[in-house]
Amino acid sequence: IEISWSTAMLDKNGYDHYMLKEIHEQPQAVAQTIKGRLDRDIGKINLENYGISKINLKEIERIQIVACGTSYYAGCLARYFIEQFTRIPVEVDLASESRYRTPTVTAKTLSVALSQSGETIDTLQAIKFAKENGAKTLAIVNMPGSTIAHNCHDESLIYAGPEVGVASTKALSAQISSLIILGLALAQEQKKLSSEKIAEYIDELVKIPSLLEKTLTLSSYIEHLSKKFYNALSILFIGRGPQWYVAMEGALKLKELSYIHAEGYAAGELKHGPIALIDENIWSVCIAPKDSYYEKTISNIEEIRARGGKILAVGTEGDENLKSISDEFIGVPECSELIQPFLTTVPLHLLSYWVAVKKGTDVDQPRNLAKSVTVE
Ligand code: G6P
Repeated sequence: IEISWSTAMLDKNGYDHYMLKEIHEQPQAVAQTIKGRLDRDIGKINLENYGISKINLKEIERIQIVACGTSYYAGCLARYFIEQFTRIPVEVDLASESRYRTPTVTAKTLSVALSQSGETIDTLQAIKFAKENGAKTLAIVNMPGSTIAHNCHDESLIYAGPEVGVASTKALSAQISSLIILGLALAQEQKKLSSEKIAEYIDELVKIPSLLEKTLTLSSYIEHLSKKFYNALSILFIGRGPQWYVAMEGALKLKELSYIHAEGYAAGELKHGPIALIDENIWSVCIAPKDSYYEKTISNIEEIRARGGKILAVGTEGDENLKSISDEFIGVPECSELIQPFLTTVPLHLLSYWVAVKKGTDVDQPRNLAKSVTVE
């Protein structure tokens, strides 16, 4: 595999921080991840270009994804799509916990190590455990020549380009794209989806870069909004379905970058505890694009509103209904459910970025954190 990372790629390119540059590089990152791997005309995923040569996808009966941090959320989010395409059960494990519950892996398990750096020790140990127990192992990584890839049967690079900011941004979009391609590849090999259906999904995937481009124009609006948030003591993030993990990622980024306490929750779980936190001082970031769960999420937003909580909604452009029940509203372009999480993540990354800038924290190198964690 030949990869060229020029020194220009390691420059901030006029941006104040690597993180902002990398957020803006998401369209190219996704374009690179999908490039050469999808053949729209025949509705086919090119397995060889994706990086699968030793593993026989026809034999796979279960999938286990092991990862940490933002990569873990990428895995949790993509699970919805992989299960939808393949009807194969997908488990997503925090790598640091995976071994302690002795997960059931067999020769028919595909264990995926998902890691931007390819060096995270917990993920390495988890995938070694899976391999020793007979699983077929696939590394989905960004850094070429990584230790994790070296320890797996197959390696699929995401080609997001170098990510310097400690908080992972463009790698997340690239990882989700890669896992969607893996789901389609499994569905193809196991004849769970027709080539016509795969072609339809390919048509969707190729739209992501330009829709991300449009979403990124929200940056200055979000910079303006961030003034309302940087003094907050605690912020709740909620979402349903794949958007639950967008909420988890939004909360993680806010904590990492601005040291504001934040919690991500499945919207339907609100009533089982976190709703007790709501009062007129608490902001909730509610992610509710027009999807299959929209009406239910709207009810959860109404519950927050009824208790006096303040709402920042992230929804579909032009959604006047959502706008009318929110204090602040960010609209992302209208698109299919497959694409929505890519777009709703963008305002959350930008929000955590601009809040951190307002607070004056070290955006690219937050305290106590490292880009790659090589201790257990
Ligand atoms: C560290 C980084 C996170 C990253 C996580 C997993 O904690 O600060 O941004 O998501 O490691 O890293 P990986 O390289 O395995 O994806």
